[in-house]
Amino acid sequence: MAQKKLGTVHIAILGLGTVGGGVYKLIERQKENFEKKIGCQIAVKKILVRNIHKIRDGVDASLLTDNFDEIIRDDEIDVVVELMGGIHPAKEYVLKALAAGKQVVTANKDLIAAHGEEIFGAAAEKGLDFKFEAAVAGGIPVIAPLMKSLAGNDIEEIIGIVNGTTNFILTKMTAEGMEFADALAEATRLGYAEADPTADVEGYDAGRKCAILSTLAFHSWVTDKDVITEGITKITAADIHFAKEMGYVIKLLAIAREVEGEIISSVYPALIPQEHPLASVNDSFNAVFIRGDAVGDTMFYGRGAGELPTASAVMGDIMEVAVDMLMDACGRTGEVCYRKLPFKPQGEIANRFFLRMHVEDKPGVMAAIANVFGINNVSMKQLLQKSLGADEAELMIVTEKVKEKNFRNALRLLTEMEIIKGVSNVIRVHGLK
Ligand SMILES: NC(=O)c1ccc[n+]([C@@H]2O[C@H](COP(=O)([O-])OP(=O)(O)OC[C@H]3O[C@@H](n4cnc5c(N)ncnc54)[C@H](OP(=O)(O)O)[C@@H]3O)[C@@H](O)[C@H]2O)c1
Repeated sequence: MAQKKLGTVHIAILGLGTVGGGVYKLIERQKENFEKKIGCQIAVKKILVRNIHKIRDGVDASLLTDNFDEIIRDDEIDVVVELMGGIHPAKEYVLKALAAGKQVVTANKDLIAAHGEEIFGAAAEKGLDFKFEAAVAGGIPVIAPLMKSLAGNDIEEIIGIVNGTTNFILTKMTAEGMEFADALAEATRLGYAEADPTADVEGYDAGRKCAILSTLAFHSWVTDKDVITEGITKITAADIHFAKEMGYVIKLLAIAREVEGEIISSVYPALIPQEHPLASVNDSFNAVFIRGDAVGDTMFYGRGAGELPTASAVMGDIMEVAVDMLMDACGRTGEVCYRKLPFKPQGEIANRFFLRMHVEDKPGVMAAIANVFGINNVSMKQLLQKSLGADEAELMIVTEKVKEKNFRNALRLLTEMEIIKGVSNVIRVHGLK
């Protein structure tokens, strides 16, 4: 097919912060190559910011505006690249851009995880591209592989380390025996954690990414509210220490699985075996492990955030949109969600559990625990006991796979027993054969 001559694709960038600034830099860096790489030029026509008076080094000030309507009214602008973040007014701007016939690229996971269905619908209705590679795992390509390269598979499972801040904190706790609060303070000092770290440490950021991955994997809408989410604030240095003694590391995992026609979409800290490929993903790095029925296991690894890594993903999307425009192929992505799957209730999800508790150190204690476990179909896989002196011991148990409701029931009974002095923590275990 003969290619159309496009000349220049004009874009407007909404937001010139970390990612917007990175995209601007990459466009400057690549401008000699666009024509050769994709057959047309890419030029920034306007940049929307909140504060137009702020000094922005290296940026052509004549491009700046604080009025979104200038962008919408400019018929020459083909692509709107939303890099402001948050839901409002990002959602309204994206919908207005689509309504005005402009292609949209975004890095905004909050927006897609909450309003993906509406936005995808608006783009499809207009036959426009809506691309969002940077929204999950920053610079690592996972969206395009899921939607294209792996399209011939039924996706069985995705397990990701998709939040660099928490991975940095857990790495520090593991390597240096730090407690959570100290590791968080270190992450803040080094710029890995934001002033308000809630979205990261409570797992919400990873939850939004998990919702997007689950949606794409299983072709059924999953929002951030559907994701069972637990953060890392209750993980202690002692948990990490004893997990290590038993052969595990603790990571914050995003887990998307389809089991018997039901979706499991969860984010929680989990023990994984030290030899698991995700165990060696450290510091602020991200990795996403995808299992397809045809391809088997694949793993994507790299920088999940940061100015240029994230801009790299946004740039790839912009260039792809330009190619789609050139080929008159915009909006031809097929249906994102053509199924409507239920979610597996939390109590029905089978997992292994790591249980750490203080118990009386006397004969008969293990038999009593085994009895409670037995009544609730909980089997022990591993056991570690440490004497604490004064007739008390610390007991660490890893169970075999058991439905969460059975495990919780056993736990409730254990906490009512006098021989159990206190449950220190319960953490799920992943990746054991
Ligand atoms: N940072 C990362 O590493 C990373 C990684 C993956 C995805 N993302 C996503 O990328 C997006 C941008 O993140 P960021 O870190 O670049 O954010 P940021 O540094 O806070 O920058 C936000 C930019 O948007 C502008 N802005 C915000 N609200 C606005 C409004 N109402 N009207 C006009 N302009 C507005 C700000 O203008 P002023 O400059 O005038 O304040 C600023 O330039 C978010 O959706 C984020 O989740 C970020």
